[in-house]
Amino acid sequence: MSWISLKSLALLAVISISSSVIDLTGALSLSNPSLSRRSQCQATLTEATTVANELQSLYYDSSTGQYNSGELWTDSNTIEDLHNLMLAADSDTWGTIADTSYIGQAANNANTDWVSFLGGSYDDSQWVILAFWKIADYKAARGQDNSAYLSSASKVYDIVAAEWDTTSCGGGVWWSSAQNYKNAITNQLFLLTSAEGYNRNQNQTYLDNANKEWAWLSASGMRGSDGLFNDGLDQTTCQNNGQTAWTYNQAVVASGLGALYTATGNSTLLDQAEISLDATISQLTSNNILKESCDDAASGGAQCDHDQQIFKGLWTKHVQYYLDSANDATRTAKYSSFLGSQYSAVIHYGMNANNDIGSVWYAPNAGGSVFQPEASAGGLEAIISNAKVCASNLP
Ligand SMILES: *[C@@H]1O[C@H](CO)[C@@H](O)[C@H](O)[C@H]1NC(C)=O
Ligand SMILES: *[C@@H]1O[C@H](CO)[C@@H](O)[C@H](O)[C@H]1NC(C)=O
Repeated sequence: MSWISLKSLALLAVISISSSVIDLTGALSLSNPSLSRRSQCQATLTEATTVANELQSLYYDSSTGQYNSGELWTDSNTIEDLHNLMLAADSDTWGTIADTSYIGQAANNANTDWVSFLGGSYDDSQWVILAFWKIADYKAARGQDNSAYLSSASKVYDIVAAEWDTTSCGGGVWWSSAQNYKNAITNQLFLLTSAEGYNRNQNQTYLDNANKEWAWLSASGMRGSDGLFNDGLDQTTCQNNGQTAWTYNQAVVASGLGALYTATGNSTLLDQAEISLDATISQLTSNNILKESCDDAASGGAQCDHDQQIFKGLWTKHVQYYLDSANDATRTAKYSSFLGSQYSAVIHYGMNANNDIGSVWYAPNAGGSVFQPEASAGGLEAIISNAKVCASNLP
């Protein structure tokens, strides 16, 4: 029996009993501290570090500060993940990456032409903001100057905010400088960057933008009766265009609503968030594991492209951000075993013998899919999210 199929058998066992494993270790922790949730999470953080080191050695080009075959927005997410992990693990393993990466060099240069750097892409721009904030958090935690990252994030935010346009479909931020498409991700990110920005800087303009965005987005028709956000709007009719419901859209809206809940205390926003999280779990999974519509290599079908390979990982990352904002043990408990199952699938199905992670999680041997930096980063996100959720369950 091959190593992969042994892992596959282990996965079935872990998935089917994952919630009882968590309960069991919790109970054991009373009598045996070495089996407590804390040690379980520490093991997961160690695993995340192994995967992140492999990702860096396989894909990161320190001479350019970019990932080979990477893109601005996926590189930004990956660098964010390294800092998220260092904060969670209290480590400094990649402490010099930010300033030497190309996004960090741009942030540190007061003369950066952001309009040109961002290339007119307003979803990508906001992933850059999120990366800058996470780097700034890391630097603050280590007593380092983070002002360049914070001021660069504000500059990028202003460029995006200027793309709000009420003359087409009543509002919303344009996807790109072509100004011909209003889509879910750009506007969900604007909800998040506005609400999160307000929580950071208490600037009323940000909170006004967050409220304005949610009022528009929730009335836009982009979320169907099945609870899932589709890709975007038909710009002629201003109706849902019926395009793909991607996993990441369902969680980025949740982290945005979680941040707006932190700002306002309105818990109805959390119930709104969970409509899309629950719809993901019931509709965008195979045997309880996230499955993108392009995750079809196992049956000879579609394979996700570079962009799409990181979507599932982003779902896990933004669920974890959502749970951080909700800060409610009952809500955390509702999703922690599902996040544990994603982690298990990544480890047992997605990962190869080199600790690299492929783009399919629900089928053995990464479902015959590809190994790319975006897939690896997506798997890393699932591991970190699980580690942080079990940490927040500490008694
Ligand atoms: C609040 O944010 C807006 C938009 O970025 C900015 O123009 C304004 O100067 C900020 N206000 C303060 C008091 O910092
Ligand atoms: C709370 O949020 C819900 C959902 O968006 C909204 O309908 C309601 O008006 C909000 N309540 C307040 C007091 O703003």
